[in-house]
Amino acid sequence: MSHVVTLIPGDGIGPEITAATRKVLQATGVKFDWDEQIAGMAAVDRSGDPLPDATVDSIRRTRLALKGPLTTPVGTGFRSVNVALRKEFELYANVRPTRSIAGVGKFPNVDLVLVRENVEGLYVGVEHFVRVGDDPRAVAESMAIVTRVGCERIIRYAFEYAVRNGRKKVTVVHKANILKMVSGLFLEVGRAVGAEYEGRVAFNDLIIDNAAMQMVLRPEQMDVMVTTNMFGDILSDLAAGLIGGLGLAPGGNIGTHAAVFEAVHGSAPDIAGKGVANPAALILAGAMMLDHVGEVGAGDRVRAAVARVIEQDQVRTRDLGGTATTTEFGDAVVRRIA
Ligand code: NAI
Ligand code: MG
Repeated sequence: MSHVVTLIPGDGIGPEITAATRKVLQATGVKFDWDEQIAGMAAVDRSGDPLPDATVDSIRRTRLALKGPLTTPVGTGFRSVNVALRKEFELYANVRPTRSIAGVGKFPNVDLVLVRENVEGLYVGVEHFVRVGDDPRAVAESMAIVTRVGCERIIRYAFEYAVRNGRKKVTVVHKANILKMVSGLFLEVGRAVGAEYEGRVAFNDLIIDNAAMQMVLRPEQMDVMVTTNMFGDILSDLAAGLIGGLGLAPGGNIGTHAAVFEAVHGSAPDIAGKGVANPAALILAGAMMLDHVGEVGAGDRVRAAVARVIEQDQVRTRDLGGTATTTEFGDAVVRRIA
């Protein structure tokens, strides 16, 4: 049987790292049937639309996508395609595992998974300016929307993830001391769901600022962390920084109607087309996709191969202090899998 997947090569370094990732996934022996589609700047250039209907229709059909990074214009221009995809397919859970690879990064024993709420909170984009006197932009106001249903499904997702993956603890990260309602509701639901899992998965909670400090002081104490949209956005990059940066950080966007796997990093326009980008983050996202379709054994082989290539073969791209090209790194991973 082959798994049908929508493949979006993306912008900037996207086509280079997706090519390497495809080769690695093929080397596992798991059969994929790729439906290649465009989005982002590549789609604007060809059709004027950053998210063409054909791409959305494809994901609706396959319910599964592997996506390269997409360039989003800053300030003006079209809204983020990533945000549009999250809304369209209700990709409510953003799952970002962070695990140390020996020899790179500042901390040798990080193994945490950050589960970020992906569609609510401050990122819903309900904001406006208020005029005072003759200044039309005197005050900016923004609204965070947090629902009980949204809190429940993301926190439950984190606990179920912990159970499925043999994890011991879920930490709810919040700011309920100050944001008594929008963050208070998240903590309240966290405690209620946590009580249901008592005896199976441990529960604790941390205030966001303390959580950030704890992650830098003793990251090994973190297991599964679950938090609201903006806190999760920031903490997941912090987590990536602990282990050597964005070149090693994969992510999955999981929803009721589809799942989209991608690297946490962007299109890296400064190094695009030079063949030096690190494909490891997207390759590791490919491993998450293997897990998602039930090919956990193959996912484990990909993760082990990436670690061995970096640790033992010392094949490293520039961001990790090496000289390997994107293709050389990808081919080294293929050799370790074969
Ligand atoms: P970025 O992640 O593209 O780059 C930040 C820095 O990290 C750059 O110096 C880049 O060269 C380096 N870098 C990133 N990925 C790398 C890799 N695989 N190997 C080696 N070095 C790597 O972030 P930036 O510059 O803020 O954003 C560039 C564009 O990407 C923007 O248009 C932004 O909107 C978009 N973006 C898209 C995302 C997505 O599609 N999921 C996520 C984040 C940003
Ligand atoms: Mg981010």
